[in-house]
Amino acid sequence: MASSKIVIAFDGHSSCGKSTVAKQLAKELGYIYIDTGAMYRSVTLFAIRNGLAGDGKVDEQGLIKRLDEIKIEFRNNPVTGENETYLNGENVEDEIRQLPVANHVSPVATIREVRKAMVKLQQEMGKNKGIVMDGRDIGTVVFPNAELKIYMTARPEVRAQRRYDELIGKGNQVDFDDILKNVLERDRIDSSREVSPLKQADDALLLDNSDITREEQLNWVLEIVKERLG
Ligand code: DC
Repeated sequence: MASSKIVIAFDGHSSCGKSTVAKQLAKELGYIYIDTGAMYRSVTLFAIRNGLAGDGKVDEQGLIKRLDEIKIEFRNNPVTGENETYLNGENVEDEIRQLPVANHVSPVATIREVRKAMVKLQQEMGKNKGIVMDGRDIGTVVFPNAELKIYMTARPEVRAQRRYDELIGKGNQVDFDDILKNVLERDRIDSSREVSPLKQADDALLLDNSDITREEQLNWVLEIVKERLG
């Protein structure tokens, strides 16, 4: 379908399914998919493993000094066909999704030097276009000239319910109100931080998927991509 390749940026709130639609779209178009949250999570894992983060605290200066020891890349898993995250040559795809990383990633993602290094890497990854990238600052900072920007959200209660169903489905015992509180708190942190806060770029299209199915969402995005590609 794509004659000339473009950059597609997905930004938005946490737990609204950005990665699901971004991944599906990349597959449909034969584009590369990059999960930038996984990059901030990998830096956080490095910090934890090296005693630079723990008990909810992060040693900012210590981490900044060691940033050039961190090598992050994505490699395709030939069995699943999905990209997996590697930190200094080790597959960390599962570990970066665990609680210790989740609990420390927000403060790590606010460090200016960390963001500078990640943005540079992301721009390098997208320099040949043909890329779908998801995060919080892709359309505003990483690729301000992206040919297509989508800003995703859903009502907090809907996002909390999806997260609740997912965790219950995995056999976890969780409380809906705790999850809702966590969703609202993450929104607050992402949108109010000083460096690269989450906000809708002026030229981004809004996708609120509270009341639509995944299929409807994908079709909506594909229609827009077709238009943009002419
Ligand atoms: O999308 P996620 O939940 O995996 O993101 C993990 C954290 O990284 C979250 O605190 C938001 C932050 N993040 C960011 O600041 N900028 C990005 N481009 C992607 C994620």
